[in-house]
Amino acid sequence: MTTSPSVTPAAILERLSARLGCLPTDEKLALYLDQEDELRHLQACFHIPQMKDLPSIDPSLSTAEDKAIYLLGNSLGLQPKKVKAYLEEELDKWAKMGAFGHEVGRRPWITGDECIVGLMKDIVGADEKEIALMNGLTVNLHLLLLSFFKPTPTRYRILLEAKAFPSDHYAVESQLQLHGLDVQKSMLMIKPREGEETLRTEDILALIEKEGDSIAVILFSGVQFYTGQLFDMPRITKAGQAKGCFVGFDLAHAVGNVELRLHDWGVDFACWCSYKYLNSGAGGLAGAFIHEKHARTVKPALVGWFGHDLETRFKMENKLQLTPGVNGFRISNPPMLLVSALHASLEVFNQTTMSALRKKSILLTGYLEYLIKHYYGKDKVDRGRPSVNIITPSHPEERGCQLTLVFSIPMKSVFKELEKRGVVCDSREPSGIRLSPVPLYNSFHDVFKFIQILRSVMV
Ligand SMILES: Cc1ncc(COP(=O)(O)O)c(C=O)c1O
Repeated sequence: MTTSPSVTPAAILERLSARLGCLPTDEKLALYLDQEDELRHLQACFHIPQMKDLPSIDPSLSTAEDKAIYLLGNSLGLQPKKVKAYLEEELDKWAKMGAFGHEVGRRPWITGDECIVGLMKDIVGADEKEIALMNGLTVNLHLLLLSFFKPTPTRYRILLEAKAFPSDHYAVESQLQLHGLDVQKSMLMIKPREGEETLRTEDILALIEKEGDSIAVILFSGVQFYTGQLFDMPRITKAGQAKGCFVGFDLAHAVGNVELRLHDWGVDFACWCSYKYLNSGAGGLAGAFIHEKHARTVKPALVGWFGHDLETRFKMENKLQLTPGVNGFRISNPPMLLVSALHASLEVFNQTTMSALRKKSILLTGYLEYLIKHYYGKDKVDRGRPSVNIITPSHPEERGCQLTLVFSIPMKSVFKELEKRGVVCDSREPSGIRLSPVPLYNSFHDVFKFIQILRSVMV
């Protein structure tokens, strides 16, 4: 499903450090990895926050370093430098020519979303016509569920993770209520086995096999927001569809992070936000996918004028000519400022490929994992000294760039101390600290510096 490393990241790191005549924990290895990194020039496309500008910094503790260690791309990606210029272009256009901006420029406002959608297709592995850029993520999830979830007396359930992101949980709950269904009976939630943190693919497939006849829609995340687990989307899709279910994914933590082939996998529908790994800014323009096989059969439940075919949209005849597929789901005219920010970001992605990003990502996250295990693996530390458990799957094919750490000491104090020293990451209840080295703008040396700071905090 993803770039399959024939050798593990740990083996690569050990081999390289032996060749360099150093230990894998030495700074020399990080510097070498950065020097060899073919994507390192892309970091210059982003504004990297400066230590001095972070509100969390304690100047008496932060190092002489200028740049913060930003490991929070899983929550909010960094700002591409071109965003400001692109926003200014549209603001200037508006100031200078008012409504004429609808039709002219690089992003005519009427078709702004359509101008940039081509840049998204390789990121999600879909045809342009299968993608719409619109709304926010949860709004898109609702619009898709309104069309794909058509319960019958025998097929009336939605399968999702027990620890799905709250917004997805509420979306499903409210969709069931909209149909007058009993939430307890209709919301089928799968949780990890007792004592385990992540779901086993075999358990997901077994549940689909057992309960599939009563399931109308399977909704999974691509990458789980808390654990960082990458689900086997092709197998879940195949198994669900074999039982007659529609299968959809929330790709908030997967898009721009792992390789996706939505079309080839035959996924029925998907949606994602663009402010995490796609770096479009908080509340950025979200995306939705509907497979072309449904283009003429699955129709929007709620229609607006931007779902009407462009050719005749402005005839104002009030006779709907619905654009086939997901583009018929667009309701309002596209928000020009959000289109501009996303445009700037997608252009950076299109300087490389998801497969090149993923290759770097596997090694970068593998390096972080290696160093954490080296210093804080349970078997490595003396009894009584703090340890760190990585709850994210250790196999690179079962995760994206995020690692979730659970500490043997109170997580909140570790988190606070990291923040004071210029590490930007986040903590999530109940006990995890999420770290996401992003291949577009994080370096191996960032990971090395993070570990030095962690060591100074965990003494
Ligand atoms: C997995 C997942 N789903 C849904 C959401 C909600 O997104 P939005 O506020 O853009 O609707 C988030 C936000 O972080 C998320 O991580």
